[in-house]
Amino acid sequence: MELMDAIKSRHAVRAYTDRPLGSTVRAELSSFIEACNQESGLHIQPVFDEPKAFSGLMARFGRFSGVRNYIALIGKKSPDLEEACGYWGERIVLRAQQMALNTCWVAMTYRKVKEAFSLGQDETLCLVVALGYGAAQGTPHPSKPREAVMQASAPVPDWFLSGIDAALLAPTALNQQKFLFSLNGNSVSAVSEKGSCTKIDLGIAKYHFEVGAGKENFLWAYGGPPKYHS
Ligand SMILES: Cc1cc2nc3c(=O)[nH]c(=O)nc-3n(C[C@H](O)[C@H](O)[C@H](O)COP(=O)(O)O)c2cc1C
Repeated sequence: MELMDAIKSRHAVRAYTDRPLGSTVRAELSSFIEACNQESGLHIQPVFDEPKAFSGLMARFGRFSGVRNYIALIGKKSPDLEEACGYWGERIVLRAQQMALNTCWVAMTYRKVKEAFSLGQDETLCLVVALGYGAAQGTPHPSKPREAVMQASAPVPDWFLSGIDAALLAPTALNQQKFLFSLNGNSVSAVSEKGSCTKIDLGIAKYHFEVGAGKENFLWAYGGPPKYHS
């Protein structure tokens, strides 16, 4: 599955079947995560066969069921951590989608199970992504119009519009889509409004924009990809 197809077919899934993740799937996902850690300086960890995080009141409130696997997004405390977790976490989410897995980003409706992951010095758990074989594939979210999330003078190149369309397919907390992409020459900047989880959302949307627009077509200006160093 191409990345753009993964972007189109991914939707938040909160109910999972009891089909276990096979050893090949676990190994492939783990090595992809390790490669992301090497490149980003994050300390993202897959957590397999751990039902407690999604078995409490919070998970029921969030209408989660059958979640026994998740990805713990962890890194050193820094002003860049949230955006980096969004950007690198979405790479992993789309890789999981390509492997026929389903996912849901979760910042609130889960319980931190401390023994399920390891924190290095100065590291913190930012949020998690539920993972597994969904009982269904989810449904497309309602979306803002392009004009609400972009600034560009005419004529607007097709690659920029493709980037915007991909960003509008990105998951955001409460589907808030509080990001703005601006074009100046071939330079693109992206900013988020203030609010809960908006930096994470921005990192996710930036990765979608890169895939949709094609990295060869533009340069990131101010507000470019997260520079996260461990
Ligand atoms: C940063 C972030 C945090 C989220 N936190 C939660 C959460 O705590 N509980 C929940 O049920 N869904 C959570 N979601 C899922 C969003 O509600 C969902 O992605 C959004 O409604 C868009 O739908 P889609 O993923 O199907 O495109 C979160 C999504 C993001 C990106």
